[in-house]
Amino acid sequence: MTPMSPNKRSSSKRSSQTLAHGADKYALYERAVQDPPSTRELIEEIYKSRRNRAPRSLREDFCGTAALCVDWVLSKKDRRALGIDIDPAPLGYARRRKLPSLSESQRQRLRLVQQDVLVPDDQLHDVVVAFNFSYWTFHKRSDLLRYFLNAHAGLNKSGLFLLDLHGGPDAQYELEEATDHEDFTYVWQQDIFDPIGNSTRCHISFSFPDDSRLDKAFTYDWRLWNLGELRDILHEAGFKRVDTWWDGDDDLLRPMKSATNNVSWVAYLAAWKN
Ligand SMILES: C[S@@+](CC[C@H](N)C(=O)[O-])C[C@H]1O[C@@H](n2cnc3c(N)ncnc32)[C@H](O)[C@@H]1O
Repeated sequence: MTPMSPNKRSSSKRSSQTLAHGADKYALYERAVQDPPSTRELIEEIYKSRRNRAPRSLREDFCGTAALCVDWVLSKKDRRALGIDIDPAPLGYARRRKLPSLSESQRQRLRLVQQDVLVPDDQLHDVVVAFNFSYWTFHKRSDLLRYFLNAHAGLNKSGLFLLDLHGGPDAQYELEEATDHEDFTYVWQQDIFDPIGNSTRCHISFSFPDDSRLDKAFTYDWRLWNLGELRDILHEAGFKRVDTWWDGDDDLLRPMKSATNNVSWVAYLAAWKN
C-alpha cells in the first residue's frame, strides 16, 4: 500500500466533512429535476384528450429512482406501475428509500425491473412514458425504431406512448445554467455539441453553500433527435396518430400543428396506438 502524504490525508478528512460528501445525488436529482404529481396530471390530461376514462396502468421506461411510478400507485387504488431501468443504483435507491413507506397493496401494484428498455415485457399498459429525454441514449435510428416498436408492443389497444423532447438553437450550444434551491444549487451543463452526429454531452452537478460540489454527478451522451424525425419514426413503429403538445403563448400545453421557434423549448409527443 502506498503511504498517503500528510497533505492528502488532511484534505481527504476535510472532504469527508463537506456538504457534498454527505449528499445523495439521487435525492438531489429528484428535488431539482422531477415533479411527479404534475407529470402524472399531464399524463392524465393527455390521455383523457382522446379516451373517456382515466389511465390505470403505467410503464415508466428509464425510470431511474421510480419517482413517477411511486406517485402513480399512490394516486389511485386501482393503479399499477412498472418501472424499468438498466442501472441497479437508482433502482436500489427506490427500493431502500421509497418502497418501505408504501402499504402492502401499493407495493403489490408496483414492479421495478432492472433491464434494458429494448427487452420486451409481456404486460400491456394504458400508458408507456420515456421522460427527461432518456431515449436520446439511442444514437442510431435503427435502435430508436427498435425501442419505439417495443413501446408500441407494451401498450393495450387504446394505449398512449408519451415522450418529451427539447430543442431550439440553445440546445446546440455549450452552456451552463444554475438554479438555486434552499440548500444546494443545481447546475445543468451542455458540454459539447457535434453537428455531424447531432450529439451532445450534458452534465448535472450540485454545489453547496460550503463551496463543495458533486461535480458531474450525472453525465448523458445524447443524440439530439428533432421533432419531425421522431414523428416519422413513431409512425414507422406503428403508431396511428402522433400529437405534438406544445407550450402556447399562455404557457398552457396543448396539441399544436405548427409553432413559433424559441431559443429553447420543451414539447411532448403523444403517440397513440389507435
Ligand atoms: C435522465 S435519467 C431519467 C430518470 C427519470 N425517467 C426522469 O424522468 O427524470 C435516465 C435513466 O435511463 C437509464 N437508462 C439508460 N439507458 C437505458 C436502457 N437502455 N434501458 C433502461 N434504462 C436505461 C439510466 O440508468 C438512467 O437512470
